[in-house]
Amino acid sequence: MEVGDMECVFVHPKTNQLMALLTIIRDRDTRRADWIFYADRVIRLVVEHALNFLPVAVKEVNTPVDEATYSGLAFLNKIVGVSIIRGGEAMETALRSCCRNIRIGKILIQRDESTATPEYYYSKLPEDIHERHVLLLDPMLATGGSLLTATRVLLDSGVREEKIIAVTVIAAADGIRAVTEKHPLIRIVTAEVDEHLNEKKYILPGCGDFGDRYFGTE
Ligand code: URA
Repeated sequence: MEVGDMECVFVHPKTNQLMALLTIIRDRDTRRADWIFYADRVIRLVVEHALNFLPVAVKEVNTPVDEATYSGLAFLNKIVGVSIIRGGEAMETALRSCCRNIRIGKILIQRDESTATPEYYYSKLPEDIHERHVLLLDPMLATGGSLLTATRVLLDSGVREEKIIAVTVIAAADGIRAVTEKHPLIRIVTAEVDEHLNEKKYILPGCGDFGDRYFGTE
């Protein structure tokens, strides 16, 4: 099955805005100030898209006009963001801009560059995380190793698999398969799916090292 057709994968619609923004951040010649600005715009779009997969309740309100009523929806607010350091931290501002007062946990996982395997070092999560839906932030889903490691940490903290929504900017097909094979109930939201990884496990065509380009450490 194509990963784009999987029930648990939600790719942002290919709008002209999104495509133009992705073209800028994938361009190796984009200068850093521009890169951060446009990466932030893509992040905002995927965060907004991901919020659509949170539960809501039916709600009716009275409008100020002639006692008219409006049948709408209400946010339930039992959510938490968890960023995988360091790329995920670039997504926190967008999440905070959309969700007032949201709690944000952290998980530190580092990729051993020689073996490309993820190593877990540290986490700090709210105590009641098991009662919340988790927006798990990591811009580049490459092999799926970091996401699988972070998921283990969340499951060990009592979070149910179906309450995890991974929010990514670019997701590689192999990474999506690796995550969904092990955790079929996790939902993955992304701006675009790329087909390949290179021998160093970078996404192709990708946009390079997201953390390095965002934080200026290349
Ligand atoms: N992490 C990145 O920042 N880029 C990739 O292509 C893969 C993992």
